[in-house]
Amino acid sequence: MFSRTLLASLVGTTAIMAQAAPMDKSDALANTPYFNQTDSGFDLTFSPKHYRTLETQVNGKTVKFRAFEKIVYVQHPVEVDYQTLNIYVPEAYFENGSINGFNANTAPIFLPNSVGGYMPAKAATYDKKGFGSSDKPNAIVTALSKGYVVASVGARGRTLEKDGKYTGKAPAVIIDLKSAVRYLHANDAVMPGDANKIISNGTSAGGALSALLGASGDHADYEAYFASLGAAKASDSIFAVSAYCPITNLEHADMAYEWEFNGINDYRRMDMSRLNANSYNDRSQAPAMIEGTLNAEEIAISNELKAAFPAYLNSLNLKDAKGQALTLDKEGNGSFKEYVKQVMVRAADKYHKQGNDLSGIKWLTLGKGGVSDMDWNSYLHAEKRMKSPPAFDALNLSSGENNLFGTETINNRYFTAFSLAKSQEKGDKAKLMAEPEVIKLMNAMNYIETSPTQHWRVRAGTRDRDTSHAISAILAIKLSMAGKNVDYETPWGVPHSGDYDLEELFNWTDSISR
Ligand code: DHB
Repeated sequence: MFSRTLLASLVGTTAIMAQAAPMDKSDALANTPYFNQTDSGFDLTFSPKHYRTLETQVNGKTVKFRAFEKIVYVQHPVEVDYQTLNIYVPEAYFENGSINGFNANTAPIFLPNSVGGYMPAKAATYDKKGFGSSDKPNAIVTALSKGYVVASVGARGRTLEKDGKYTGKAPAVIIDLKSAVRYLHANDAVMPGDANKIISNGTSAGGALSALLGASGDHADYEAYFASLGAAKASDSIFAVSAYCPITNLEHADMAYEWEFNGINDYRRMDMSRLNANSYNDRSQAPAMIEGTLNAEEIAISNELKAAFPAYLNSLNLKDAKGQALTLDKEGNGSFKEYVKQVMVRAADKYHKQGNDLSGIKWLTLGKGGVSDMDWNSYLHAEKRMKSPPAFDALNLSSGENNLFGTETINNRYFTAFSLAKSQEKGDKAKLMAEPEVIKLMNAMNYIETSPTQHWRVRAGTRDRDTSHAISAILAIKLSMAGKNVDYETPWGVPHSGDYDLEELFNWTDSISR
């Protein structure tokens, strides 16, 4: 919490205005110095002195704020350009003001991560394009307009390399996000905003990490990784999680994918080989796509993975809100499938009640009362699958997730026994398997029971085919069963994306913060 004395001492501080830096599209802050650099590493005490004062329009309203940018959040960064926070604070909080019922002491801290594709991610700036690269205000300025302090965070990712070593393989990205949270807790007394109200937000890989950050708060499993980075000695627990289409539970995601998409043999997927950090983080560039049809071998793998999913699902002992068991039979049918379908039916009904026309979709049961059912198979066959099996742990080690689980010296590894067993790679195959401890550290599912985070919002659009809808459903159900406050929906017609419903998002963050 921000002390009033400190606030008083700040009034009259001179703003350091932005230098006229040449605009590099991919890195708006390229020429901004790291103000917290010292001779012996980076100083982890928040400095209220180094900021620029900025103004922007958000939905017709002028929002004035201070930008404290490129704060390196560990003393000894490995990749200084990525291990940074951009902190944005409503100007009103330096003038004893309040916004939306919050003040400098009570304002929650909105923590959007920029991670996509498990790639390296620079902390997003306040002027990044909004959802779908539209002119809509982005999540950062929307949060500011609603009185949130924003801590936009970057992190290392799977493709980074320095001095002949990979520097961003798992678990680097979650260690970085936790280190940033530790910085916020350590500086709670001197920074505006309430570090006991940190609300994490992310999409896709970033959604998975948002969930992991909440699930694994203060868990001892991660402890060994902080000392060498010089992370602040403080809590890394957060208050709430917003996760859009989380690409999580990777070691079970191949099975889940085939449970959902088996029988759909045409695919349209992203060309990972042509992906770079900029095209991932700047979502205005559509990634290159590859189209094709599964061959007989791939179809056989799909069948095998699909058949393995019910045993995993049933081992979770899932129950719905009424305590009814959610299970699957050998064919993959049963109450769990019905549950996922009904979540989508409710999404269609909500969309319809918002005044949208669904009469063209013949596989929806649409009556006077709204949408009451849908034909699961027709829904699935309405579009191509996105990934070929195994969707994540590729047999030829070509997926982004294989790349995530590499080491300092091995670029790509397996993370499931299934794919390792089917590998045609030469040499000592055991070396190509990620350690179980590292795989565990990357999966929010492993930490739900001990999670300190009470509030969860999970979204995965009905048109999303980057991972199975089972993955986010399982996450949401497990969280509910652990007594968490969970808001889970599958917005109708929404593809793989995030931040598309900021009014709803911030209504939810308001509701849990007061
Ligand atoms: C993302 C998408 C994927 O399909 C995937 O496998 C991993 C990450 C993403 O958009 O972040």
